[in-house]
Amino acid sequence: MCGIVGYIGNKNTQEILLAGLKELEYRGYDSAGIALLDQNKIEVFKALGKLHNLEEKVNTNKEYPLGIGHTRWATHGKPTELNAHPHMGEYSYVVHNGIIENYKELKEELMKVGHKFVSQTDTEVIVHLFEFFYNKTPNSKEAFLNTIKKLEGAYSILLISKVDPDNIFFFKHGSPLIVARGLEKGEVLFSSSDSPLIGLSNEVVYLEDGVGGIANKDGINFFNDNVTWAGLPTSKQFAQKDGFRFFMEKEIYEQSDVVTDSMIGRLGENEISFDEFPASLIDGIEEIKICACGTSFHAGLTASYLFERLARVRCSVEIASEFRYKDPLLNKNTLFIVISQSGETADTLEALKMAKKAGLKTLVVCNVDNSSMTRVADATILTRAGVEKGVASTKAFSTQTVVLWMMGLYFANHKNTITKEKLEEEIKALREVPQALIIQDEMHEKTKRLSKRYLHGHGFFFIGRDVFFPLALEGALKLKEISYLHAEGYPAGEMKHGPIALADPELFTIALMPQNLLYDKIKSNVEELSARDSTICSISPLEFDLSDDFIRTKKTNHYMLEFFEMLVALQLLSMEISVRLGNDVDMPRNLAKSVTVE
Ligand code: M6R
Repeated sequence: MCGIVGYIGNKNTQEILLAGLKELEYRGYDSAGIALLDQNKIEVFKALGKLHNLEEKVNTNKEYPLGIGHTRWATHGKPTELNAHPHMGEYSYVVHNGIIENYKELKEELMKVGHKFVSQTDTEVIVHLFEFFYNKTPNSKEAFLNTIKKLEGAYSILLISKVDPDNIFFFKHGSPLIVARGLEKGEVLFSSSDSPLIGLSNEVVYLEDGVGGIANKDGINFFNDNVTWAGLPTSKQFAQKDGFRFFMEKEIYEQSDVVTDSMIGRLGENEISFDEFPASLIDGIEEIKICACGTSFHAGLTASYLFERLARVRCSVEIASEFRYKDPLLNKNTLFIVISQSGETADTLEALKMAKKAGLKTLVVCNVDNSSMTRVADATILTRAGVEKGVASTKAFSTQTVVLWMMGLYFANHKNTITKEKLEEEIKALREVPQALIIQDEMHEKTKRLSKRYLHGHGFFFIGRDVFFPLALEGALKLKEISYLHAEGYPAGEMKHGPIALADPELFTIALMPQNLLYDKIKSNVEELSARDSTICSISPLEFDLSDDFIRTKKTNHYMLEFFEMLVALQLLSMEISVRLGNDVDMPRNLAKSVTVE
């Protein structure tokens, strides 16, 4: 959520900042801006909307020894140019990722002593506070540290000032920030995630909360010693669309390969192992609690069915933003699992910290190594999906689900709740998942054709039972996110308890009808909807005579294989509807890839 970059060095600063922002654009694209500093001269460019608007505006080839940049997902203040970062005082500029919770009080105090504000953002107080302290005592380090002391909330900050033109001041508290040594002498880079740094640096520090410092061409001076240098991945190939129209499309097609990566080294001939997961973590565990947001929550809900069914362990699932404020009862014999693609989602991260503080054993299922959650949890299981750029999550979900299914079997084996034969049967099915995720041209074509019909109406119901209920939730979320059409996921058996009142021909029901799980039950539910004239699109290996439309999945002998094939059908259908509506598939309105504010 929002992306920040900074650069000190002899290369073309504006080009490096813009390239970095391009990498981060998926994190927020309401506006973008850069500030370039050369001694007494600061040049600032800002533009509303996507990054190309800013690129068109940056019309200087002058050399600047340092600069900072930002791509915004609006929290406080509408997406306008005035609210775009960098924010300025009289002689300083700041970019910020996060939220300053006490900004109103600070703003009032500063206004009383003559500071003038031009934006509606929380960020602007940072630069004014800095100047307030500097005007009292002209010592920039002291002014920066005094500023930090006043801030409440979550933030990562880069600040530059004409009064100290060789330095970039930085600080991290709650929102991610990385500082990097460049490949050339005298180069320092900053970014809120590692992708802009790849190829430009080999050594980085993923800053811990409470760590900051001052950087210039002579080096990086941290305010405290709590830093560890680390390497960086070297591959940038993930940034390409590889001939696909959208990152989302590429990522849907990649699922078959990435789930194979998720299984490598974990799925044996007839057992499942997790090297990164000490058996001691589950010894004495009586209960599992899963916490996550969005798509990751849906993976967690799917896992709860699998954990209870296979490992006979009680499992509850909570939305992280709800969990945090409900004063939850936490039992020490609970394994607390958080699931997150980014590892940075603020609510999930805070829930994890709460559970850890309460003495629970914690585990994160995550896609991004070195992310904040992996640094907090007792153990990490990486999903290995590779970088996911589409804002609508796809391969993150399939890899999470595969990893969680394997974990369910691992627990089951550990607890002796599964027979050898049943375990072998499940492992055999797991091996077939990559095949189930290979996209058949026929299915993709069918979703393209159906997208013509499913553009209007007053809403969509996605319905399923058991694990197909979280899958229905995921299908509805995908459609909402990128098509902006109203869609709800429901347990099929719940329809008659209220929602069926909405049924008419303009209500589209997407019915998940697996052959291997509760087929007759869901069939009755769909019949009830059909009898009330809802337009039905069934996704199933079996043709169903009451369907108006039909997406055929392959016949298999395991419901989870049907699950993954149906997942692909739902992802493709929502993408094709979004394309048909002319929407931006990869960067849907109002959203950002990683939600680092609560
Ligand atoms: O990075 P996380 O998995 O923690 O993100 C959680 C949600 O923000 C995320 O799944 C969101 O719902 C996606 N846009 C769904 O496509």
